[in-house]
Amino acid sequence: MDAFTQMYRHSIEEPDAFWAKQALCVDWQVPFTRVRNIDIGPDIVSIKWFADGTLNACHNCVDRHVDARGDQVAILWEGDEPGLAERITYRELHGAVCRLANGLRSLGIGKGDRVAIYLPMIPEAAISMLACARLGAVHSVVFGGFSAEALAGRIRDCGARVVVTANEGVRGGRTIPLKHNMDKALESCPFVEKCIVVGRTASQVDWVEGRDIRYLDLVDTMNAECEPEWMNAEDPLFILYTSGSTGKPKGVLHTTGGYLVACALSHRHVFDYRDGDIFWCTADVGWVTGHSYIVYGPLANGATTVMFEGIPTWPTPSRFWEICDRHGVTIFYTAPTAIRALMREGDEHVMRIDRSSLRILGSVGEPINPEAWRWYFEVVGEGRCPVIDTWWQTETGTIMIAPVPGVTPLKPGSAALPFFGVEPVLVDDAGRVLEGVAEGLLCLRDAGPGIMRTIHGDPARFIETYFRRFPGLYFTGDGCRRDEDGFYWITGRIDDVINVSGHRLGTAEIEGALVAHQAVAEAAVVGYPDAVKGQGIHAFVTLKAGEGETEALRQELRDFVRRQIGAIAQPDVIQWATALPKTRSGKIMRRILRKLAEGKVEELGDVSTLVDPGVVAALADVARARK
Ligand code: PRX
Repeated sequence: MDAFTQMYRHSIEEPDAFWAKQALCVDWQVPFTRVRNIDIGPDIVSIKWFADGTLNACHNCVDRHVDARGDQVAILWEGDEPGLAERITYRELHGAVCRLANGLRSLGIGKGDRVAIYLPMIPEAAISMLACARLGAVHSVVFGGFSAEALAGRIRDCGARVVVTANEGVRGGRTIPLKHNMDKALESCPFVEKCIVVGRTASQVDWVEGRDIRYLDLVDTMNAECEPEWMNAEDPLFILYTSGSTGKPKGVLHTTGGYLVACALSHRHVFDYRDGDIFWCTADVGWVTGHSYIVYGPLANGATTVMFEGIPTWPTPSRFWEICDRHGVTIFYTAPTAIRALMREGDEHVMRIDRSSLRILGSVGEPINPEAWRWYFEVVGEGRCPVIDTWWQTETGTIMIAPVPGVTPLKPGSAALPFFGVEPVLVDDAGRVLEGVAEGLLCLRDAGPGIMRTIHGDPARFIETYFRRFPGLYFTGDGCRRDEDGFYWITGRIDDVINVSGHRLGTAEIEGALVAHQAVAEAAVVGYPDAVKGQGIHAFVTLKAGEGETEALRQELRDFVRRQIGAIAQPDVIQWATALPKTRSGKIMRRILRKLAEGKVEELGDVSTLVDPGVVAALADVARARK
């Protein structure tokens, strides 16, 4: 612990010296001479790391390992169907990435061009990301669970010239019509020149001649060598969309050098990664966790990274542990929602499979309740594997707060202590910094080199969202408590962002989808606690005059939201409301709606500022009846 504390202090007190040394964990083509250049003012935020260095992320994740470990497995893919697996060595990965990079280049893709990737969890997803990185093209991966509408919005926002998809995805024994969704999305994206289609299944799909290209046809004739484009450290690596409390999803932009250093360093230390480990992060590459801890972190460290196409409960709730056993997984990283779902299925599904290869267990995406933590630790890890609860965000790029295995004492439910270079600050509503034991809003004074640089196409929103409220600090949107040992306990979002099964959604987005339906006059969405998903989605909906409050319409609205955003955003509860509770200034009182959704009718508090307190009484009657 002393050595860790000393190293942490060094990272905060002498960041230039600390990071200049740590940044050598990646290969630089032209070494940097400057480390940090950060300017956080009221109207301008400029974050630059290693700004005069050049490197290539793909070279660092692939090429540099070929000599030393060319025959080691880089990507260990397990298909949805049990037993279906593929092992891709670093040498093979190099060939596959170069061929696709040459293919993309033949389509005119180069430095700075955007490429949207809408793929299932197949090796081609990682290969596509790396091929973009090799060319200096900016990838934007869109989670395969998003609808055509949501996909189109992201493709339009990032202005992709080329998109990559698959004919179908396969998950939990079911197929997902990815190409069909892409076709629909591209109807409103005429600027997309080419659509590359991976044949995941044998199914035929509609084909647009001249636009669509089979992945295999593209790469088949390509050379397996491709010179990487040497990028400036601050050149963009990717854009990844995430939900905020208002408006449309934000294109979080990450750059090359700092992000890659942060990925490699955090992957090594937080998971105590060592040569020979089999590292499995169960996230989807469509989320930041997949970017940083399936692709960039593990591959930068020359690890074997597991990629799983399926779901934890198919065909049986033993699936995760079977994969661990079959492939000798040593480090396993998943989300509390999966842990809770499996816990509910019973210990026997875990116990019947050998888990002796496991060494470290990680958790990410939402607060892990102590009960799930203990089950994970005692049942899954047999009491011998530390549970590493990691707190971070799409925006921070890499892990910010986490225990270090074998070093930090563990407290179930706490993400423990800040990682190197990370300086958390708790503030109250008025922006006063809170010292010692305290509970407040979590900000970061420093977040290390991996933090986002801007919102693609909207630098003003970047400042407004993260830096305006508390000058000089990055505001995370989370509430947090610091205990007597200086350990951090994340209490959840304090804005209108909800976390459903580890998926981040803006309530405004779901409301937007609901009011787009012709029957809906107004809608308000709140989260409520759910034992497995963390939060469920409760929508209060006011219909237009003359529309009937029917079960059929309820179902139609659910389907409507699924088509607009995706299945993850479908409301669990739709409650009809003749009106929504509003203040005299017209603001919806979400505090009251949250209590109603939780069924805490007795705790509604002061409703006297409402225009019409009768509105609440009517909604409360329904809540009472539901209880
Ligand atoms: O509220 C926090 C929660 O997830 C949010 C970030 O979501 P996203 O950008 O989708 O990234 C998720 C994966 C990094 C945070 O603002 N969150 C994430 N990890 C934890 C967490 N809440 C509590 N404990 C965590 N370990």
